[in-house]
Amino acid sequence: MGRSAAVSPDPAAPRGRFVTLEGGEGAGKSTQIEALARLAERGGREVVTCREPGGTALGEALRSALFAERDPAPAPAAELLIFAAARAQLVADVIRPALARGALVLCDRYADSTLAYQHHGRGLDREAVRAVNAVATDGLWPDLTILLDLDPKDGFARGERGGDYLERETLAFHRRVRDGFLRLAADEPTRWLVLDATKPPMQITHAAWQRIESLLAP
Ligand code: TMP
Repeated sequence: MGRSAAVSPDPAAPRGRFVTLEGGEGAGKSTQIEALARLAERGGREVVTCREPGGTALGEALRSALFAERDPAPAPAAELLIFAAARAQLVADVIRPALARGALVLCDRYADSTLAYQHHGRGLDREAVRAVNAVATDGLWPDLTILLDLDPKDGFARGERGGDYLERETLAFHRRVRDGFLRLAADEPTRWLVLDATKPPMQITHAAWQRIESLLAP
């Protein structure tokens, strides 16, 4: 079989946009994703929503395995690699194909969660987490990341603390995660939009939508 010629990307091909939502427990990411998807669909655009870990058959199976009741909790390195495996499948099966069709992809958590939870929260080595993220994302990073910033105390008070082993982590752990997200946002201010998650949901949707609209503008 002959070697196929390199295919350069078609400049006329639609270019999708990739937006992720990040934040601690109870910050309201799923409510915002639903509202933002409705707004984007009104504009006639294909919208693909997904969540991490999950969004594929393998990813949902990994999610169930990870959050199944067990004692002891997963080893930190196992946890890191399970999130990464779920992400790799989601990127390959869902996110890249959707972007190639020109869709807007709205994803509830992505690789920044791994840096915030597994590096800042758990204390795993930053370069190791970055290397795993590079493999899992295949180099695909969001055009925009919206951080719904919330004091973990307020997140827990919202009653969404469903009880899996990560949600039951100490307040100190969740504080490190929050600080981690804020640091990541400060390091890359053009990619991140930080919103105060204590504000009324409609106000948050409005601010997020303004940024997404400008991203969608031709
Ligand atoms: P969620 O569906 O409530 O957002 O639950 C996912 C949980 O998994 C949440 O506690 C954050 C955690 N998580 C990580 O620790 N690392 C990751 O890379 C991802 C995607 C999630």
